[in-house]
Formats: sequence, structure tokens, C-alpha cells
Amino acid sequence: MELKITCIPGDGIGPEIVAEAKKTLDAVALKYGHDMKYTDILMGGASIDVHGVPLTDEAVETARRADAVLMGSIGGDTTTSPWYKLAPNLRPEAGLLAIRKALNLFANLRPAVLYEELAGACPLKAEISEKGFDMLIMRELTGGLYFGERRTTEENGVRKAVDTLTYDEKEIRRIAIKGFDIARKRKKKVTSVDKANVLDSSRLWRAVVEEVAKDYPDVTLEHMLVDNCAMQLVKDPAQFDVILTENMFGDILSDEASMVTGSIGMLASASLNDTKFGLYEPSHGSAPDIAGKDLANPIATILSASMMLRYSFDLDKEADAIDNAVKQVLKDGYRTGDIMSEGCTQVGCKKMGDLIVERIQ
Ligand code: IPM
Ligand code: MG
Repeated sequence: MELKITCIPGDGIGPEIVAEAKKTLDAVALKYGHDMKYTDILMGGASIDVHGVPLTDEAVETARRADAVLMGSIGGDTTTSPWYKLAPNLRPEAGLLAIRKALNLFANLRPAVLYEELAGACPLKAEISEKGFDMLIMRELTGGLYFGERRTTEENGVRKAVDTLTYDEKEIRRIAIKGFDIARKRKKKVTSVDKANVLDSSRLWRAVVEEVAKDYPDVTLEHMLVDNCAMQLVKDPAQFDVILTENMFGDILSDEASMVTGSIGMLASASLNDTKFGLYEPSHGSAPDIAGKDLANPIATILSASMMLRYSFDLDKEADAIDNAVKQVLKDGYRTGDIMSEGCTQVGCKKMGDLIVERIQ
């Protein structure tokens, strides 16, 4: 099968981790007889440096022509990088928001899994972490506060800023359907997270999610207020299967969930539209402090490539091969610096990629 993949190496550690993910995909292609066709595009700071904007229309069109997009990370140090002296709509993150919107990537899947081999890295008490957890945050990605009208004004010498939170029922319905569909393939439980005790947008969210739930009698639905969810994530993460939530809540809760695993360098993500097309990226950022030093953990990007094979290409066997190779490398005691623990062997980014490739061949 021919797989047309647009790559966004991006900024910071992005180029290093994407290189390892490509290496892994090439090993899969060789073993299972596929043909990977990569085209790179610039986004974020890398695009600002060349084109003066964080994403060009040409780059979007290249991405659109592919079957899927594999991304590293974008952005730099917000206090020292010149990119952050630019107007907000010209900064690296604006490129990411623009590509999400342009490609209609409304469904963001962020799994947070406690790997048995890395249980020691979990910051929770043993009595909580020993139950293990495996949840998926389904975050709405193209609506809400991120894309509402915003402005900053000054009235009578008083500065004032407004951001608006809007959802219509279609936007809620399509993400809820994705959430229930995926719960059906997992532990059949959806926790819909909102702030329905205060916000109208949340009350509509809750009503529409309940309508969608009627088509999924085999899936259990519960509602949870976002503040309570933030608490439950550290108190009893094992209770969650699919967490379904709006853009801003999902941004915050997915960072919290990843921290609870203790190994954000391991967490992949997918952003999908209503076809098979998707953008796949690690959940972590661009870590400019360790960029170019061969210190980054490429596993989250490699697992994102695995998600790409699974969700955009239906290549489950090939995705399993990557997931199993990653598990085996961990079992064999290899760790990058961020997940290093006593008795293990510390390796760099490239070596970690090589070790995973060896276990695929
Ligand atoms: C994320 C990031 C982005 C977001 C930023 C970089 C705009 O935090 O992907 O979670 O808030 O969506
Ligand atoms: Mg975030």
C-alpha cells in the first residue's frame, strides 16, 4: 500500500523525534511491504524564519493532499525567543491552530496510559497507581474559546479583554459520536466533562451528549463537572475510560492526565476530521532546552506514527508491531533521560529509535 504522509518536523526537538518516527515507519514498510512517500512542510517558528508567517497556504495544501500528517512539535522559549515578540496571530502556536481549523481536525484523541514498566514514574501514591489506568481524552479541537471572537479594548483608560465561548449542537454532536464510537472499542464508558452548573455552552453540551448516548445503549455515560474531574484524575484515575470534553477543558485535563502517568515523553495523540485523515503528534512540547542534543525521547512520536497507521490506514498489525517493539525496548531496560530509573540503561534519541527498529525487523 502507498502511504502519502506529510511531515512537520517543526521546532525544538521536533526534527529529531520526527526523524526517529520516520525510521520506524520505514522499518514497518520494509517488513510489511508498504511504500511510504514523505513530503515535509514548515510550520511554527521554522516557517516564521523562512516565510514570516507560522503557516503558509501552500503548506496547508500540501498537507491536504496527503493521507495523513505526522508532526513533531512547534514553538520555542516564550521568554527568550524572538518569535514571541511578534503579534499573537504570527507566533508559532497560531500555525498549529490554523492547520487544525483548515483541515477541520475537530476530534483530538489523547491517550494517557500508565505503562507497567514505568509505574515507578507515576507521582501518585502506590495504592492508587497499582490499579493502573488507561484512559483516552477526546477533546473537541476546533471550537469553543480557542476560536471564538476575541478583542482587547480600552474604555476611559480601563483596558478590557473579551474571549467568547460558543458551541452549536452540530459541533457537539460530531465529537460526541466520535467519543462513543471509540468507547465501544474500549471499555464502553464515556465520562462527559462540562461546567453545566454555570455555563450555557455546557448545558447544551450535556443535552446533546445525552441525545447521542441513546444510540449507544451498550456504552455507559456519566457526566462530571470539570473541577471534580481535575480532582478525580489524581484521586482515582482507574475509573476513566473515555473522557469527552470541550476544547479548553480538554487542553487542561489532558496535561493533567499526562502528568499523572509520569512519562509525558511516551504519550501520543491524534487529531481527526470526519474522514480517515488525521494529524498525529506527541502530547509533549518542543523542549527547546534540550533541542539538538540527542536527549529527546522519540517514543511519543513513534507511538503517534503507530496511531496514524491504525486510524488513518487501518493497518492494525503494523501498528501493533510498533507498540510491541516499544514495550519490548522498555522491558529490555532501555530509557531516555526523562524516564530513566535505577538499573536501566540510558540512551539518546537516535539510539532509542534504533532499538525500536531492531525489534520490528
Ligand atoms: C496543545 C497545546 C496547544 C493548545 C497550544 C500550543 C496552542 O497546548 O496542543 O494542547 O492549547 O491546544
Ligand atoms: Mg495543551
